[in-house]
Amino acid sequence: MTGERPVPDPEESTLSTHPVGIHDLSVATGSHVIGLDEIAARHGVDPAKYHVGLGQDEMSVLAPDEDVVTLAAAAALPVVERHGTQGLRTLLFATESGIDQSKSAGVYVHRLLGLPATVRTVELKQACYSGTAALQMAAALVARDPAEKVLVVTSDVARYDLDSSGEPTQGAAAVAMLVTADPALLEIEPVTGVHTEDVMDFWRPNHRSTALVDGRASIDAYLRAVSGAWADYAERGGAPFEDIDAFAYHQPFTRMATKAHRHLAKVAGSGLDRDAVDAQIAATTTYNRRTGNSYTSSLYVGLAALLDSGELDPGSRVALVSYGSGAVCELFTGIVPEGYREATHPGATTAALDARTPISDTAYLELHAAHDVVVADLVTPHRTTGPFRYAGLDGHRRQYERNEPATR
Ligand code: CAA
Repeated sequence: MTGERPVPDPEESTLSTHPVGIHDLSVATGSHVIGLDEIAARHGVDPAKYHVGLGQDEMSVLAPDEDVVTLAAAAALPVVERHGTQGLRTLLFATESGIDQSKSAGVYVHRLLGLPATVRTVELKQACYSGTAALQMAAALVARDPAEKVLVVTSDVARYDLDSSGEPTQGAAAVAMLVTADPALLEIEPVTGVHTEDVMDFWRPNHRSTALVDGRASIDAYLRAVSGAWADYAERGGAPFEDIDAFAYHQPFTRMATKAHRHLAKVAGSGLDRDAVDAQIAATTTYNRRTGNSYTSSLYVGLAALLDSGELDPGSRVALVSYGSGAVCELFTGIVPEGYREATHPGATTAALDARTPISDTAYLELHAAHDVVVADLVTPHRTTGPFRYAGLDGHRRQYERNEPATR
């Protein structure tokens, strides 16, 4: 034995030739909402700065008995109810608002959903990019064995200091995606462009519950990363700009998607006029205008809005542009298959957004302050209207439970 292994013959690759991608998708958000006019009044600015300048109307606010775990489980529940757990081998939980430095938030979700012990579970982090890392890892697992399914859940609550410029760009949402072979919603194409650069544009040190950000630098870093990812995508044989029908972006605020897409159209040498460029992202912004920033979920909330709009013809190519401060960017594409509209649930996300209880600025300020209380034992008030609740802390142990319909 020399220890040498024969070089695999690419013609005899054991990798599947089945398309792999997103088979089902579901969005959840918080039980409360605040209109940005309330924040504008306290900041003493023209509300148009938020509605037009940032492209945001509202932001979701979590109830005291909600967190990234309850949101993630709420997003995943309909997916598990629709498809069961047969073939499910992996749960990937992507977040940058983690609730523990060691234990994966996914393990709590695993229990709340009643998943089999044979489902491996892990949490991933790289700011708003980690959902895309999870999706690509899921696709690789399914390509290796098309009989396997992976549940990818992105869940985040965006929190900045009160009265900071980031405050109107808070929000919350979770997205659950079932990744399978022969998917019903989006077939992910293999070519992908990536860009990584060590930059301090946005971060949250371990001792802080709110993020720190250099706002202008973060916008510049985002645009630079989009250029880098596009160059890599093109060099690796990606589709030309004109062969892409729609673009979904990470949306810290929806106007950022407009800035990023106009920038990409210029870098890629598109001959389209500004209205045509803006039209390529319009359908992706409707939900995000209402959830606010949901960090690693926001790109997939945008994808949900695009698919739910039904605007795309089957066979259309969608580009997904994922940016996570710090910074990593990935640009990849997918094809919307025949019959995809039957696999969407357009009313569900709109109903969840409409069902939120509007709260005053005073109530929002109380919730914002309560988040920073550090104790070993805590009983949270019963407020959430979602299917799961965070009941508090028992000797530093987080307590999660089913929220029985009678008490909602
Ligand atoms: N009517 C219409 N528009 C108005 C207006 C009015 N009355 N007043 C101002 N505006 C416009 C401004 O012209 C500006 O537009 P442009 O950017 O096109 O010039 C826009 O409103 C915002 O105004 P300012 O730049 O003055 O706003 P600001 O300094 O208060 O803060 C921000 C804006 C930097 C985005 C801030 O909200 C922030 O720091 N947000 C958090 C960081 C962030 O989201 N960065 C994005 C990239 S990083 C990322 O994507 C990761 C992530 O999720 C955080």
